[in-house]
Amino acid sequence: MRVLLTGAAGFIGGAVRHELESAGHDVVGIDLMLPEAHGQSVTPPGVLRLDVRLAAGESAWASALEGVDVVCHQAAVVGAGVTVADLPAYASHNDLGTAALLAAMAARGVRRLVLASSMVVYGEGRYRCAEHGVQRPGTRPVAALTAGRFDTPCPVCGGALDWAAVPEDARFEPRSAYAASKVAQEHYAAAWARQAAGAAIALRYHNVYGPGMPRDTPYSGVAAMFRSSLERGEAPQVFEDGRQTRDFVHVEDVARANAAALTAVATAAQEHVSAYNVASGHPITIGEVAALLGAGSGITPETTGGYRLGDVRHIVASPARAEAELGFRARISPAVGLPAFASSPLRESHQLV
Ligand code: UD1
Repeated sequence: MRVLLTGAAGFIGGAVRHELESAGHDVVGIDLMLPEAHGQSVTPPGVLRLDVRLAAGESAWASALEGVDVVCHQAAVVGAGVTVADLPAYASHNDLGTAALLAAMAARGVRRLVLASSMVVYGEGRYRCAEHGVQRPGTRPVAALTAGRFDTPCPVCGGALDWAAVPEDARFEPRSAYAASKVAQEHYAAAWARQAAGAAIALRYHNVYGPGMPRDTPYSGVAAMFRSSLERGEAPQVFEDGRQTRDFVHVEDVARANAAALTAVATAAQEHVSAYNVASGHPITIGEVAALLGAGSGITPETTGGYRLGDVRHIVASPARAEAELGFRARISPAVGLPAFASSPLRESHQLV
């Protein structure tokens, strides 16, 4: 298939490009090469410098979308956002960027889309009380966090809650500008699919890590931060009690999920829209992540008891739907991938990466 890949020079886009080309697809890679993400790096060979926010009538779209069967949209400003001043960047690159891309696709009759979404659309994960079933505990009060009570109790009985895997039909509850922009992208894709007889698959990535991950910034995920601390000979700072749980999925598995989604969307019915968690299926605590990354370094991670107000406690996905419907199953477990990541190269990062 001929695939237009946006964000082709990025951490995930680069891995997707490699995977799609290895599978024999004809990939047209575009990237804005945002200085905030790429610094002064030159555009990689084979990648075209193009802004997805271009108006649909612009001639650059003619060559980029010529003969394209599927668009794989990875270009985005990522991270959780640090200040309110970041909001326009998310709205511009992620919301407007997706809307403009969809308009250009509609203008040129391209009707298939794979969209990079994120588990952040869910907000907190899923919780279950032994007595009262599934509960939504809400945000954690500052007083509880300060007192070191990181797990929220059942809102009905005050008893303990256990986390459970989040299915794709869980309610959207975006809590950051980035999360809001990912929800918006999914909604734009659904509107486009209805109006332009298109088909779209959204892939909700969990915590992605792997070679080429951007070096730590306030916008980086925790794996890059721990990895960078170790490189400096410093102990990774594990917040809370280290028992908060996530799913760390290797970037090569994310690339394979994209390849599976491309195949599925190519033959999907018109107006078909679906979303899939992309996860390893091996939940892990942040304390365990620090220990796996630090193993062999002689450095012991430090559990600080500190917290970030915006953090959720546990978010773990069910990978079942992606396996059943896309035939995608992650191959690299964190027990293998994280120790290997401890010595793989990172990329220089700048601001919003
Ligand atoms: C992260 C990303 C989010 C992305 C999602 C899925 C960020 C800021 N968040 O969400 O955008 O969509 O993965 O890929 O990029 N922690 C420490 N020590 C540190 C930093 C963090 O213990 O130095 C802890 C945090 O308190 C949190 C956990 O690690 O409990 C995960 O943090 P992080 O990777 O930043 O955010 P996620 O919520 O998992």
